[in-house]
Amino acid sequence: MILERNNLFNVTQLEIQLRNSPLQDRIQDLKQLTYLYMLRRAAIKEIGTKLENLDDEFSIIHQHNPIHLIEERIKSPASLFEKLQRKNLDFTIESINKNILDIAGIRVITNYLDDIFRVVQVLIDQDDVKLIKRKDYINHPKANGYRSVHIVVSVPVFLSNNTHKDVPVEIQIRTVGMEMWSSLEHKLRYKNFHSKDTANQHAAKLKEYSQKLYDIEVGMQQISKDIEKN
Ligand code: GTP
Ligand code: MG
Repeated sequence: MILERNNLFNVTQLEIQLRNSPLQDRIQDLKQLTYLYMLRRAAIKEIGTKLENLDDEFSIIHQHNPIHLIEERIKSPASLFEKLQRKNLDFTIESINKNILDIAGIRVITNYLDDIFRVVQVLIDQDDVKLIKRKDYINHPKANGYRSVHIVVSVPVFLSNNTHKDVPVEIQIRTVGMEMWSSLEHKLRYKNFHSKDTANQHAAKLKEYSQKLYDIEVGMQQISKDIEKN
């Protein structure tokens, strides 16, 4: 199942949003930016379809769906603006193309731990998919306990003149348990507690729970494998 996080997928709407965003005064050619967004949106659809097809095939061969949910989102013009500013990057199409690889974002929520690595591998093994960046926060969790695998891949998008462009998509892949954890951690991060102690206690608990959830997911994976064998 694919869930679209916002409805920026309509080009006309996108143009209106870009025109009303702070980017308007900073980027000279808004039409080029609309084109860039159109390509990123197309790349999301290409990867989304690949993931759905893989999940379908897998369920026939192994009687198991590795993917629980796919979420797609396009970075809003406002947060693109914020990111360019934060990273002190040029407000040009060239700079966005080169530096901002997460305008197209997909989150894949898998049922089990092994599914994460399976999905990543079969996707990047496809002839037309190129791996650009990979971060494994599962074998190397962040200090706060965050776990997930992040990859940036490029996929060809074919154009009306019969050429193609390789367009980047950022994919975050995590289990249901990791997704639950990171939503709560995200909430905690953007909440201002009156007491610093309370915030620290919550953060410490979350770190502990990250490990516990991981242990539970390893255990459940074992049970699932055993069921499949019998
Ligand atoms: P950016 O250029 O800011 O995107 O940095 P990056 O690409 O080096 O960051 P990274 O790949 O580590 O993280 C990108 C995204 O992963 C974030 O926008 C979040 O959605 C998610 N993420 C990373 N770290 C955390 C974390 O500690 N907690 C939660 N809840 N999400 C995280
Ligand atoms: Mg990123």
